[in-house]
Amino acid sequence: MLIRIVFLLTLAACLPQAPAAAQEKQPGDDRQMAFFIDSLMSRMTLDEKIGQLNLLTSDMDVTGPSMRKNYAEDIRKGRVGAIFNAYTPEYVKQLQDMAVKQTRLHIPLLFGYDVIHGHKTIFPVPLGMAASWDTAAVEKAARIAAEEASADGINWVYSPMVDIARDPRWGRVMEGAGEDPRLGSLMARAYVKGYQGNDLSASHTVLACVKHFALYGAAEGGRDYNTVDMSRRRMFETYLPPYKAALDAGAGSVMTSFNEVNGIPATGNRWLLKDLLRRQWGFSGLVVTDYTAIPEMISHGVGRNTSEVGTQALQAGVDMDMQGEVYVTQLKSLLQEGKISRQDIDTAVRHVLEAKYRLGLFSDPYRYVHENPDKVIMSPDKLAFAREMARKSMVLLKNAGQLLPLKKSGSIALIGPLADDRRDLIGAWSAAGDWHRAVSLLSGVKAAVEGRAKVYYAKGANLVDDTALLRKLNAAGADITVDAKSPEQLIREAVATAERADVVVMALGESAAMTGEAASRSDIGLTPNQQELLSAVYATGKPVVLVLMNGRPLTLPWEDAHIPAILESWFGGTEAGAAIADVLFGAYNPSGKLTISFPVSVGQIPVYYSHKSTGRPADPGNKYTSKYLDIPNEPLYPFGYGLSYTHFSYGDIVLSTRKLRRGEILRMAVTVTNDGHYDGTETAQLYLRDRVASVTRPVKELKDYRQVFLKQGESKRLTFTLTPEDLKFYNRDMQWVTEPGDFEIFIGGNSRDLQRAAFTLTE
Ligand code: NOJ
Repeated sequence: MLIRIVFLLTLAACLPQAPAAAQEKQPGDDRQMAFFIDSLMSRMTLDEKIGQLNLLTSDMDVTGPSMRKNYAEDIRKGRVGAIFNAYTPEYVKQLQDMAVKQTRLHIPLLFGYDVIHGHKTIFPVPLGMAASWDTAAVEKAARIAAEEASADGINWVYSPMVDIARDPRWGRVMEGAGEDPRLGSLMARAYVKGYQGNDLSASHTVLACVKHFALYGAAEGGRDYNTVDMSRRRMFETYLPPYKAALDAGAGSVMTSFNEVNGIPATGNRWLLKDLLRRQWGFSGLVVTDYTAIPEMISHGVGRNTSEVGTQALQAGVDMDMQGEVYVTQLKSLLQEGKISRQDIDTAVRHVLEAKYRLGLFSDPYRYVHENPDKVIMSPDKLAFAREMARKSMVLLKNAGQLLPLKKSGSIALIGPLADDRRDLIGAWSAAGDWHRAVSLLSGVKAAVEGRAKVYYAKGANLVDDTALLRKLNAAGADITVDAKSPEQLIREAVATAERADVVVMALGESAAMTGEAASRSDIGLTPNQQELLSAVYATGKPVVLVLMNGRPLTLPWEDAHIPAILESWFGGTEAGAAIADVLFGAYNPSGKLTISFPVSVGQIPVYYSHKSTGRPADPGNKYTSKYLDIPNEPLYPFGYGLSYTHFSYGDIVLSTRKLRRGEILRMAVTVTNDGHYDGTETAQLYLRDRVASVTRPVKELKDYRQVFLKQGESKRLTFTLTPEDLKFYNRDMQWVTEPGDFEIFIGGNSRDLQRAAFTLTE
């Protein structure tokens, strides 16, 4: 052990020459780490310490591998602890050289990046991946992302985004797993396992960063960055579990959110970062802010200047300042003025150095400088998996008269602004993804039917005709083109194309730029010009399949009432077009299920399946009950919903007992039968309702699910268990308890159409 410590200490003093030693995680590693870091910190000046807390961006995504001149100088002077938005082995090496060869203590940099749904091989947007309900597949996608990112010099990814979101106006719903805490927690865990693996210091694993802490998804009105005000009950019941699950899975870093939480910005929120995150949850990793979130506290109105907000952030427990340059400019004088303590700074520095140590960067700062990234990046196996992931993510919303799957014969008209699009297919937050490599739907369909059916194409409409919206989107880099032809001409051509064909496939939806950060929308229907196109084509009387490409729930009442087949394909990533064709022609039987409700109209928002009952549950015969005069309470497509080309029926639920004693496990079984005409995968969902408790409980809560593949005609008996833990909730005193009483169990293929059983929990 002593030899190893001496070795590491020597290494810290002469990192550039250090051999690339493998660093396996051993018991006692934490003690070695503490010893190493104590020793390193004892040699650091105050300036060097503060430098470690400074995270700066490179201009990579805007200008290529370039660094603002003063930033390069900052690295050389030891004023930077980490860089983000810099990748490729050559560029990372160049910057890492500055840190380890030119600074006094040779401390390596972290390299962070927004690897959100793949690095170069782009998977469907996370909301789409969640719709697969397949945690093993999501973990694999994250592992592939980690392999590619690490081969490209990155060692820290700003993912998973685990914010529960129940407001589809918010553009960032696409980045998370949807509305449910249970599913959100399972997805959070899958991402972390995929990114970090079992050994963070292996060269193909990366440090995960759970974001955005906390409650960002509850921004008022779905407007980005907006206020969050929430009861502790709702936080603990609904919004906090996925963050906790990600940390329990070992996530090594956390990003604070832009929003305030009950009057205090998250980035300066001591209760959130110290009491909850550190003390209650025992998190010992790195806390970084979101982009310029510290100086933004001035606009929030909790400080007059950077020194005041910097003090608040540090004392709240923020370790690293992303792009705010508040710590690097203020902490020294704040310490001299006695506003912060040396201990505050040391604690933050330790967290940064520990992250670097855990990644193995002190043993080998060039661990992530891969010799031949091209062998790893976008390899055929990764692309094949991207196609598989995209197929699993798609949700069949409607299929009247079994219009789908289509036959590979006759003629098919492919119409819509997204039909021959590649740029949008990889979705928002596809950072390093190259849309030129994406497979369009047109080429996917052509490849699928080659030599067997004719394919006609018409654009039919621009994605967006509204010039004010276009200007905004294009100013942010969307690059949406407007056809030289008039909208009328485009529609005429589309109608003529439809008329020539046996069946029409329409590709409509959003531009990727209409989703993601700072992309809130108040009207979440198809854009008016796309609606016009759709109704004109519908009026031809040809059978129409609507393929949606979008990053959020859309309002689709007209579409649902008129169009026989609707397939939600999200933004499906690099292989989207091939994967959609697989589903359209039945090479894959759709199995995805929504993880966020699709409202009938924006007026229903927030609409989610696990709502409370109210004292006056909706009763159509009684005016004075909780409902709207003009729209239903229920969403158009509920949580958990998604059709298959086949049909699954559920038998009665069989319970091991109807009287469960406290502490006992309840066993349940249900038989699911594939009584349709295709083989297929079903996701059987188990929901629970606590009928009477000391506090009101949701009308149902997802507790578990099973995915089962059933051949045509096959039945399987699925079993579930509920443990005492599954029956717990926060009582009036916010204690996590079970209470005896009556419960209901529901099992079925979505949160609306369910089998029911009941049991009583006794003392
Ligand atoms: C702002 C976003 O909110 C966050 O999710 C992202 O990781 C950072 N910018 C860094 O790009």
